[in-house]
Amino acid sequence: MEVCGRSFWMLPVHCKTRVWRYKLSDNRERTFRAPGRVNLIGEHTDYNDGFVMPAALNFSTFVTISPLPGRVLQVFSENFNKSVSIDFNTGKPKPRGDWSDYVVGVAVMLQDAGYVLGGAKLKIRGEVPIGSGLSSSAAIEVASACALIANSNITIDRVELAKLCRRAENEFVGARVGIMDQFISLHGRAKKALLLDCRSLEYKLLPLSSEAHLVVCNTMVKHKLASGEYNERRAQCEAGVKHLSQTLPHVTALRDVTLEQLEAHGKQLPDVIYRRCRHVVTENARVLEAGEALKRGDLRAFGKLMYESHRSLRDDYEVSCPELDVMVELASKIEGVYGARMTGGGFGGCTVNLVANEHVDEFTRTVANGYEQKTKLKPEMFVCETADGAREVTSVTAAQQRSGD
Ligand code: GLA
Repeated sequence: MEVCGRSFWMLPVHCKTRVWRYKLSDNRERTFRAPGRVNLIGEHTDYNDGFVMPAALNFSTFVTISPLPGRVLQVFSENFNKSVSIDFNTGKPKPRGDWSDYVVGVAVMLQDAGYVLGGAKLKIRGEVPIGSGLSSSAAIEVASACALIANSNITIDRVELAKLCRRAENEFVGARVGIMDQFISLHGRAKKALLLDCRSLEYKLLPLSSEAHLVVCNTMVKHKLASGEYNERRAQCEAGVKHLSQTLPHVTALRDVTLEQLEAHGKQLPDVIYRRCRHVVTENARVLEAGEALKRGDLRAFGKLMYESHRSLRDDYEVSCPELDVMVELASKIEGVYGARMTGGGFGGCTVNLVANEHVDEFTRTVANGYEQKTKLKPEMFVCETADGAREVTSVTAAQQRSGD
């Protein structure tokens, strides 16, 4: 961004339009939390302008922030026991290829959007398992964004904030992710699934039945979204759109294609691109059907769609892995399991299972034993509670002290 012919980053603070003036004596600490998520259905549909249905979980990332003089950010990660320091006055920071990119990337995107951040000290503690498909990355981005803007007395609408966090991951971290994770981390509600239209960003909160639990099983196989596979799937979807739009001019994303249209107009596509498109088209339809099933409280119908989603991700989109398939297969044989599927980007990470309350103990025991026998890996099992989206969690006493009560 250029202001008065000079890079925005190099301008002295008083030249910039939105200036936050901190008080040097003000060293109060505030803490913000943002949750990870589990996606119930609608995988790899968000970046195709489609539908997704995640829920926010009660695993969160916490960011404690306090103002610093100058325009320096000092960031400490408790999980990695490492610190990073950046100074906005010395120009635009570059990605370092580690955990700090999620925090610095958000700061950079806020600055690029014209918000002037004050100096701050940030302490980060994450409890969302990293690289497991439960969106530890969105949790750290959103918690950092909430902390940074509060520290600089800036208010930003939650939809805009989700978009800025996503940009940080796309442009700074280098993963071409969709909007789902950042959106749910900001808009989730306890006991609800969120059905999101990723084109209009309109959403509905749907009730999760109290008769069943979401159980997340971690295969302990780590995935890395920034690695080429995820971006390659996106490129394949774009190739499908390019071809289909030649005969169907209204098609700007796979969201616009029905299965009948794909069958009629996709014959010349290479088989692999055809199958990628088929996954997205059928998955979008499944999300909408799953939404209807949740409204009716029909867990059987919902679970059936979860299994179908897994098969489509395994066979058409090819983002599953043997360990995820073993986990889903084991789950499908246990009484009281309505449905199971891989969740998140894939290539490892977790499965999500919808399990009747009275069968949860048996489920976790049987799947953990069976999985360990087959893979020699010890899985983690999380009987999940859903949670609200990001918010400030500064303790009441600290808040009272601040307001002088
Ligand atoms: C990752 C991305 C999301 C989404 C999923 C797959 O979690 O961050 O945007 O694309 O993969 O559904």
